[in-house]
Amino acid sequence: MSALAHNSIVAVIGSGAMGAGIAQVAAAAGYTVKLYDTRAEAVSKALADIGKMYAKLAEKGRMTAEEATAATARLQAAGSLAEVSDASLVVEAIVENLDVKRGLFAELEALVSDDCILATNTSSISVTAIAAKLRRPERLVGMHFFNPVPLMALVEVISGLATSEQVAATVYDTSIAWGKNPVHAKSTPGFIVNRVARPFYAEGWRLLNEQAGDAATIDAVLREAGGFRMGPFELMDLIGHDVNFSVTQSVFGAYFNDPRFTPSVLQQEMVNAGFLGRKSGRGFYLYSEGAPAPVA
Ligand code: NAI
Repeated sequence: MSALAHNSIVAVIGSGAMGAGIAQVAAAAGYTVKLYDTRAEAVSKALADIGKMYAKLAEKGRMTAEEATAATARLQAAGSLAEVSDASLVVEAIVENLDVKRGLFAELEALVSDDCILATNTSSISVTAIAAKLRRPERLVGMHFFNPVPLMALVEVISGLATSEQVAATVYDTSIAWGKNPVHAKSTPGFIVNRVARPFYAEGWRLLNEQAGDAATIDAVLREAGGFRMGPFELMDLIGHDVNFSVTQSVFGAYFNDPRFTPSVLQQEMVNAGFLGRKSGRGFYLYSEGAPAPVA
């Protein structure tokens, strides 16, 4: 077992849905976690949400009140990237964009120690490409969690062409130490889950375009009769339409515009409108006033 030592510092960059979940899980597993975001309010919100989640878990008897207090104390806000320079593992969970991710890792590489592992939570972008501009590309690996992170056991540990076996093994073992169920995978567009999930969303969009049923009907059929935990539209609302649209664009481009992966124009319009799903209060369903009501 070569998991990161328990006294190691983990930095999580990006404090949205995924970053907050990753921080929650790492701190609960005993690691000191520094959370950074270009929007300071995202860090404050993430820390407040994680505190509430620990309190709920303590209420349900899934952790003791002492464990909840100790995990909360292990979480710190980082006011600047320089404050994560002592991290042994950095997990990036920022916007799904190759250039922005490359820019962040270039900045990080200049700050952290030589043996710090750089991990990306990218859903679909080539880990090889994210690493390519680094001085030491062998230290970068994909650590792909699923939403919601505290509930979903799977982590895809993605090796790019340059990723060292030792780095992938440490991230794999660290995922186990965080209570997860990791698998090794190579860097292919969308990796395993997001590749197989593309046709699920694409057929949902086609059914909607052809007016086979509205979003709520299609979701209900797939959930209640099809055996899926969520239908495509409620799942996209959970993931975020901005994230889901970027992932589809990335997989489409990486497969040389294979029509099977064509992004949806309607989803593009939803992103243009700011109807991003749960995180904006409106997607296919409304979330701001309690029980969701279908809007398409
Ligand atoms: P989000 O939109 O909820 O949060 C992203 C956060 O990153 C925002 O708070 C934003 O302010 C911050 N950010 C953007 N650029 C930054 C930068 N240069 N430096 C620091 N912070 C920056 O997005 P979400 O859903 O958390 O996704 C983050 C990453 O995780 C993406 O790469 C996405 O593809 C991946 N992912 C998303 C999943 C999902 O279901 N939403 C599932 C698995 C992976």
